[in-house]
Amino acid sequence: MQSRIDETTMNEPRAVEGRTAHEKADAPSTLVTGGTGTLGRLVVSLLRDAGCTVRVLSRRSQGDGEGIEFVTGDLATGEGIEGAAEGTEIVVHLAGSNKGDEQKASNLVREASRAGVRHLVYISVVGADRIPVTSSVDRAMFGYFASKLGAERVVAGSGLPWTTLRATQFYELALLTARQMARLPVIPVPAGFRFQPVDAGEVAARLVELALGSPAGLAPDIAGPRVYGMAELLRGYLRARHLHRLLVPVPFPGQAAGAVRAGANLAPDRAVGRRTWEEFLAEHARAPSDSRSRAASGN
Ligand SMILES: NC(=O)c1ccc[n+]([C@@H]2O[C@H](COP(=O)([O-])OP(=O)(O)OC[C@H]3O[C@@H](n4cnc5c(N)ncnc54)[C@H](OP(=O)(O)O)[C@@H]3O)[C@@H](O)[C@H]2O)c1
Repeated sequence: MQSRIDETTMNEPRAVEGRTAHEKADAPSTLVTGGTGTLGRLVVSLLRDAGCTVRVLSRRSQGDGEGIEFVTGDLATGEGIEGAAEGTEIVVHLAGSNKGDEQKASNLVREASRAGVRHLVYISVVGADRIPVTSSVDRAMFGYFASKLGAERVVAGSGLPWTTLRATQFYELALLTARQMARLPVIPVPAGFRFQPVDAGEVAARLVELALGSPAGLAPDIAGPRVYGMAELLRGYLRARHLHRLLVPVPFPGQAAGAVRAGANLAPDRAVGRRTWEEFLAEHARAPSDSRSRAASGN
């Protein structure tokens, strides 16, 4: 479940509270990889609010703006990333994709080490260490978790002071998945899969807090307030959109799928997120008829 969402469905990030004007004046210089993504844009905004100078690494060239410097480079190939971390104190590494995050982390660590950064912060996923990816079936469906674990190890072994935060799936990803699945008249739902999605804004706030603090190693996980069955997540979306679909449970093979059925991707004891899936849907997945009737009533 790793993909990009193109629409701007993000909620506003919360301000980093408790930072005085004096602290802001001393705020460090940062490099954010993945600063153009769902999570990254929220983190960049919060770092800016905290007074940090922010450089963003992206594969696409973009003009600088609003106090943000953009540098162009590809962490997968290493092309163009030389000097990206030069002059920065903190690197927040959020760039990621379905596969190859270990390689991206290795290339970044090389640059961060060369620049002598004092804190490397990484976002990983809950279950990275508990979902076994051994067979080709596991790799096809859950290779993402193995590559996040590989990247975690690169960060921990970098020799740089580091912090890694593992988060559960963001609501944006759950929404994107639900939208894609709802295109089918009959939806096959992986039997026994549960998720504990979380608000990306809350993850961003926690990451910034960690980034501006002392290196903490592996930080306590961050997860949403509730565990949902996959069918329950989908039904919430269908209800919000006034859609009707038949959901058919489908057993998924492999050890990794078995670990997910056993809850390896959940962190019920770290259900620290406050915003619920229902609240997120109310804002981002309203049925067109609801929007029209609101507009007509002036609400
Ligand atoms: N989405 C989730 O539910 C979830 C849950 C837990 C952890 N995470 C982790 O959180 C991070 C951000 O997730 P997201 O959902 O915000 O991602 P996203 O919206 O898909 O954005 C991905 C970001 O990674 C950058 N990127 C990808 N490949 C790159 C490369 N080869 N070189 C440089 N930059 C590259 C992209 O930048 P450009 O396209 O501008 O180059 C983009 O900014 C990822 O590391 C992900 O594994 C996500």
